[in-house]
Amino acid sequence: MASSLISRHFALPLQKHLWLSAPGCRYVSKAAPKTQVEYDYDGPSMKTSVPGPRSQELTKQLGDIQNVGAINFFCNYDESRGNYLVDVDGNRMLDIYTQISSIPIGYNHPALIKLMSDPSSLSTLVNRPALGILPPENFPDKLTESLLSVAPSGMSRVQTMACGSCSNENAYKAMFILYRVSEYYYCCCHRPFYQGVPGCPDLSILSFMGAFHGRTMGCLATTHSKAIHKLDVPSFDWPIAPFPKLQYPLEEFTRENAQEEARCLEEVEDLIVKWRQKGKPVAGIVIEPIQAEGGDNHASPDFFRNLRNIARKHGCAFHVDEVQTGGGNTGKLWAHEHWGMDDPADIVSFSKKLLTGGYYHRDELQADKPYRIFNTWMGDPSKNLLLAEVLNVIRRENLLEEVTRSGKALLNGLYDLQAQFPGLLSRARGQGTFCAIDICDDATRSSILLKARDKGVLLGGCGDRSIRFRPSLVFKEYHVHIFLNIFSEVLAQHK
Ligand SMILES: Cc1ncc(COP(=O)(O)O)c(C=O)c1O
Repeated sequence: MASSLISRHFALPLQKHLWLSAPGCRYVSKAAPKTQVEYDYDGPSMKTSVPGPRSQELTKQLGDIQNVGAINFFCNYDESRGNYLVDVDGNRMLDIYTQISSIPIGYNHPALIKLMSDPSSLSTLVNRPALGILPPENFPDKLTESLLSVAPSGMSRVQTMACGSCSNENAYKAMFILYRVSEYYYCCCHRPFYQGVPGCPDLSILSFMGAFHGRTMGCLATTHSKAIHKLDVPSFDWPIAPFPKLQYPLEEFTRENAQEEARCLEEVEDLIVKWRQKGKPVAGIVIEPIQAEGGDNHASPDFFRNLRNIARKHGCAFHVDEVQTGGGNTGKLWAHEHWGMDDPADIVSFSKKLLTGGYYHRDELQADKPYRIFNTWMGDPSKNLLLAEVLNVIRRENLLEEVTRSGKALLNGLYDLQAQFPGLLSRARGQGTFCAIDICDDATRSSILLKARDKGVLLGGCGDRSIRFRPSLVFKEYHVHIFLNIFSEVLAQHK
């Protein structure tokens, strides 16, 4: 393996050679100014189609134990490096989907391997505590070093959780609790009393069409991206507002898009009033800064600022779900930072690239009693350890600037391809490397995804017919050009 890793010293001559000699290359790339990732491979290398024979064998074996319908192929994580995922058949693929956007700095980053090889990390790995009752001595320090060091504006409290759904589920509970607290009255001894009947109040969360917030019961009631997620599962009678359907590129359709956003905001206010009249007041509004699973749908900073104001006006908590957008892919650690607000939200949930799940919140959303927001693990301290180091690498290597640079190259490349294949591609869009493009129909999208994979590029779908790009933060311009060359070959086969 070592022989196929390339060093900074000879990366540049090699990459030039690679582009110019790529067979059937239709996309003529410009040289990327930046050096290669040191521990990365030099490009994809394919031995079989994917899934190969070993993957198929393992899928059959696992099929006797679990449902394997969603399995793509089996991986060799020991051999995977940087931007490249290696499978059990020895295929090495440029990974632009990164485990549904959850690998922050590539596979087997040396800084993380070093940290985990340190004997002082061992006890954190071996002993997983019930954090809510028996946290380790260094827990407050590690939280401060990791999650609190990147807390969104206006928030100094964080609650860790295990996954994205679990984070949102508990964030919703925190919003309901806050809403009820605002309905307490206090007797002369300062004991709080509910004004109504205590118990299970008829409150609601407002969400948006096309949203994805997870698959647990409460989250699922606010998820509206694909019917299959919700099939056969009961749901709550909660309001669902339209999410703006914008035209791209955004800067060419500002007037039309502003009208569409105003229409949606008006509907949000109407729904809040309607649900209050129904006796199911809206305790919180939940929204993604870019709807991801639902098709990479963008909205303007103005839209979010106005929505935030509507939430405030009607006494609804404002929950920004950064499970997919958080962690740096948009060129900022939090996508909501692009809105330019001092108090962007009451709750910001995260997971994926942050390695641990959880949510930041304003002080008022701290539950008033123990065990109201609680589960056995409440996160995992080993993930905080890793996250602190990931954040060090992001700062040390200026990875957010790199993302902005690679993102520009990626989006420009997609614009070029869109002009070259107008019948196939449309609606190229993105922020940083958080990009997407639409394919003419779902069947063609599936075919493109499979053909790209067989040529050594891993991509993901979202919405009805979009392809989404979710590389790690060490995806450089050099990788963008490798991708564009392969992608243009695949598109030429679908012309
Ligand atoms: C925006 C958003 N929220 C919540 C979730 C759920 O996270 P998890 O799959 O970790 O439960 C996802 C998962 O993709 C997501 O994209």
